[in-house]
Amino acid sequence: MAQVRLENVTKSFDGKTAAVSDFTLTANDGQFMVIVGPSGSGKTTLLRLIAGLEKPTAGSVYIDGLPVNDVHPRNRDVAMVFQDYALYPHMTVGQNLAFGLKMQKLPAEQIRHRVSRTAALLGIDNLLMRKPGTLSGGQQQRVALGRAIVRKPKVFLFDEPLSNLDPTLRMAMRTELKMLHEKLKTTSIYVTHDQTEAMALGDRVCVIRNGKILQLAAPLELYEKPANRFVAGFFGTPPMNFLNGGIRFQDDNCYFVSGEDRIQLPPRMKKSLANRNGKEIVLGVRPHYVSVSPSGPAELDGIKGTVLTAEPLGDRTDVYVKTGSANRIVAATDPHINVTVGSPVIISINAERVHLFENGDTGPNIGLLAKDPNC
Ligand SMILES: Nc1ncnc2c1ncn2[C@@H]1O[C@H](COP(=O)(O)OP(=O)(O)OP(=O)(O)O)[C@@H](O)[C@H]1O
Ligand SMILES: [Mg+2]
Repeated sequence: MAQVRLENVTKSFDGKTAAVSDFTLTANDGQFMVIVGPSGSGKTTLLRLIAGLEKPTAGSVYIDGLPVNDVHPRNRDVAMVFQDYALYPHMTVGQNLAFGLKMQKLPAEQIRHRVSRTAALLGIDNLLMRKPGTLSGGQQQRVALGRAIVRKPKVFLFDEPLSNLDPTLRMAMRTELKMLHEKLKTTSIYVTHDQTEAMALGDRVCVIRNGKILQLAAPLELYEKPANRFVAGFFGTPPMNFLNGGIRFQDDNCYFVSGEDRIQLPPRMKKSLANRNGKEIVLGVRPHYVSVSPSGPAELDGIKGTVLTAEPLGDRTDVYVKTGSANRIVAATDPHINVTVGSPVIISINAERVHLFENGDTGPNIGLLAKDPNC
């Protein structure tokens, strides 16, 4: 077991752009740290830097408090599980599991014992004589996990290990992996581009983009208190709605205004928004805090729109609405909601649940920026 620390690590492959940029992160002993980010954000590079397969351009990697920049990958005592499994095709499952231990020159009896215990743990004891080519994707994934576990390394590094599995198997393996971690408690760093997987697995989740950390927090904190617009839009299904607009004070009330669409903000936000009157801003609201009602003769207070489409998903129906000011808003509603495409509706947004961001892809969350719990 071990702590892993990256300190001001930069990695550039071409001397111009940085795949990983001034990156500082600690995964504590026994922790399951998830690094999540879009394709090309530097996830694999980070793992390869920890494994020793890449050398940092600047900064240091520490394992258990010791700098390992100059330690050969073989001597770092970390095991990596790859997306494509990387099993040896000509060896049986048993030989694949035993290979690393043979290289370590462990006694044959100990190898047999460890291989059979690991195979039992993963439920692959009946596959030991088979070659990888004859196994299903899920079975191959188990063998790849087994090959890492059997070595009892200080650290596991997972590079999108479930992404080649079909959705059902992927979810089942995710749960198994989490339960396995509860048992083994080996420090793990797991990278994925899947937001659900990140939240489900991580004790801590580190969101990255362009080789930089955008937020590091526990899963629910990321969801409830996203530090910026990118993180807010990354977690949650369907994603958070974002509306571009401005703040307007009128008759002692504070409004968010986007064209003709207007939302009255809670009075508690007035103080921190006082200096933003007339300024551009982005309002974010999760689809679960938006409701849709048919527009009747008695006009309800809300935003007028027309239904673009509705997706019945069983536990909820997602209704997509285009507002009078051409904003597109999705509402996660009761599964039995009765709406017709093209029909007029009124949208109500729970103003207590909105987030306000500064403009831009990674515009900070104004409420958190001001450290004002009221915003
Ligand atoms: N060996 C290399 N030579 C040159 N550039 C590289 C090399 N490896 C990675 N890069 C670049 O570094 C950046 C980060 O790549 P990386 O593979 O770490 O991303 P990733 O987050 O793992 O992406 P994905 O989700 O697609 O696997 C990319 O722009 C990539 O093109
Ligand atoms: Mg990758």
